[in-house]
Amino acid sequence: MAFPKGFLWGTSISAEQAEGAWDEGGKSPVQIDYATAGSTTEHRKIWYLNADGERESMGLWGHLPAGAKYQIFDDLHYTNHDACDFYHHWEEDLNLFAEMGFTTFNTSLAWSRIYPYGVQGGVNKEGVEFYRKVFTKARELGMDPVITLYKYDEPVYFEETYGGWENRAMIDEFVAFAKTCFTEYKGLINKWMTFNEINILIAFPGKGGDMQRTYEELHNQMIASAKSVIAAHEIDPEIKVGAMLCGICSYPLTPDPEDVMANYKHFQDKFCYCGDAMLRGEYPSYSTRIWKENNVCLNISEEDKQILREGKSDFLGFSYYMSNCITTHANEEQIGGNMQMGIKNPYLKASDWGWQIDPVGYKYFLHLMYDRYQVPLFDVENGLGAFDTVDEDGCIHDTYRIDYHRAHIQKLKEAVEEGVDIFGYTTWGGLDLVSAGTGQMEKRYGMIYVDMDDKGNGTFERKRKDSFFWYKKCIESNGDELD
Ligand code: BG6
Repeated sequence: MAFPKGFLWGTSISAEQAEGAWDEGGKSPVQIDYATAGSTTEHRKIWYLNADGERESMGLWGHLPAGAKYQIFDDLHYTNHDACDFYHHWEEDLNLFAEMGFTTFNTSLAWSRIYPYGVQGGVNKEGVEFYRKVFTKARELGMDPVITLYKYDEPVYFEETYGGWENRAMIDEFVAFAKTCFTEYKGLINKWMTFNEINILIAFPGKGGDMQRTYEELHNQMIASAKSVIAAHEIDPEIKVGAMLCGICSYPLTPDPEDVMANYKHFQDKFCYCGDAMLRGEYPSYSTRIWKENNVCLNISEEDKQILREGKSDFLGFSYYMSNCITTHANEEQIGGNMQMGIKNPYLKASDWGWQIDPVGYKYFLHLMYDRYQVPLFDVENGLGAFDTVDEDGCIHDTYRIDYHRAHIQKLKEAVEEGVDIFGYTTWGGLDLVSAGTGQMEKRYGMIYVDMDDKGNGTFERKRKDSFFWYKKCIESNGDELD
């Protein structure tokens, strides 16, 4: 068998996309609580009142204009408010996960449940106890959860108080939050990741083109991450803390050497810049080129350099959904993807949202990462967003999803046989949840169907899809049985 004994199998969900209960349990609001859903072609919108009291919206990752205030409008529907209601269904969901044979599961913590109003507001015991219940139950059911501290959902309070991540006060806030979690869940959780897809700040810079601010924010996040790694090792030497990066897998569109170079540069700029800093413990040599090209000037102190060196991540978590192409030639067809745009690859088919499906790219990418960093890998996210329908027989026959996972796990297996060290695979969104990019419930990744649509119609009833039974068999055989 290719997969080592003890290889972790499961799924990954996140607080803001699964929990719902947006204003319960002492949680404070987060930016995404003010976002409505988009569609296959449109990203979602975040709503607020501008300084003149008029209704306005902005795109994801936007910064609130001066004098504006986030606002809930009664005539709009906010999919994250209830999401798939994991907050009230967690026990049922964990039981379903256990039925599939999961040996792990990944979720993020809502910072806004643990420290709703920062350190000065104190720890919210109800939030801490919510996650303790979830983790304890998961352990009882035989899962070794791998937990993410941050997934784009800092309390709005921080934006109001500090302006955002470009303020170094955020580093102390984050490290305090991390230390509380490492201490509270000591013995329950031994594997953590700090920032989900930390590289999306640069892979998807939607910050009105303010690259100086973007690189400063990213620097502060990487320092906060390194300080948390150091703190975790002091609190419990058994804890392993990983970096988590959005998988950027691309090919040169043509053999034109300019395309080959542009593609390699793309990989350095969007992926390795963060990976190198967090796993090698220092900014790579090509950083100066990146800063120059973006007109960015970073003041990196000797102390920060030392923190990066001492706080290297123990493993590399990543997401992988798709690949695309890079070219220097004009007029090629653009295509979307997970937090990135690229050029269409004529050899690949795409999902309904235009993400090109590429299992071979997955194997290629696994080798690229392992060759470069030589640390254990962990696949946090891999999955297919699709429209599912409940058939007349009451079942969801999602053969396309089975095909997707079969092809990817097959390539994962080959990579393991060829020496890639990876300790687990969690599918993305094994329980249908709210899409991060479009805010839709109906962009479904799950093996468990959740009866809820984009407009708020539904009962939250859970149903096993065909992929549920397929994945169960795959896990029972430790990845051997993929038919
Ligand atoms: C990853 C995110 O980038 O992609 C997830 O970590 C997200 O939160 C996933 O849900 C899929 O993207 P989307 O836009 O289809 O939800």
